[in-house]
Amino acid sequence: MEKHADVEYVMLSEEQIATGVKAMAERLDKLYDGRTPVVVCVLKGSVMFFADLIRNMKTTLTIDFMSVSSYGSGTKSSGELKISKDLSTNIEGRDVLIVEDIIDSGNTLYKLKKLLNERKPASLNIVTLLDKPERREVPMEPEYTCFVIEDEFVIGYGLDYDERYRNLPYVGVLKRSVYE
Ligand code: PRP
Repeated sequence: MEKHADVEYVMLSEEQIATGVKAMAERLDKLYDGRTPVVVCVLKGSVMFFADLIRNMKTTLTIDFMSVSSYGSGTKSSGELKISKDLSTNIEGRDVLIVEDIIDSGNTLYKLKKLLNERKPASLNIVTLLDKPERREVPMEPEYTCFVIEDEFVIGYGLDYDERYRNLPYVGVLKRSVYE
């Protein structure tokens, strides 16, 4: 597929993503064998990954959606987690799988994990499409990662810059001229 004019280069092609997602779905099928997890899509960035991941999973599961944002105040990790859409599922005693597109500073997931753990799930795991470990500000390691990437401004396959580019089917690096 021809790349968008604002994309410097394609970091992960559609094919690479599809292979990674399929392999992850198989791992998760093994993990949740015989159980019925609730798979949580953290809006908006994870929509593509979420949709592709669950459709590759054979496990019987339920889905739910959440919309959160992490507010920094001085040190970002002390900021609050704002929930603009909460789960509609009671997760007490459930196996919960949080699906994220990217983990950067780790602040959002660190707080989200703490919040959801207070609701007493049977288990709580995080699966992320992308991880930028170099950027971490808090100790937050996802249980499952598809791709560890360099610290580049990535867009596409759900990820945005100023709400744009989420519909690109690949993960690309944004040209500096677009945001500088
Ligand atoms: C992104 C991503 C994570 C968070 C990761 O969401 O989906 O939730 O940022 O960053 P962190 O590790 O530094 O906390 P974003 O707030 O951009 O919202 P979006 O998914 O709606 O684009």
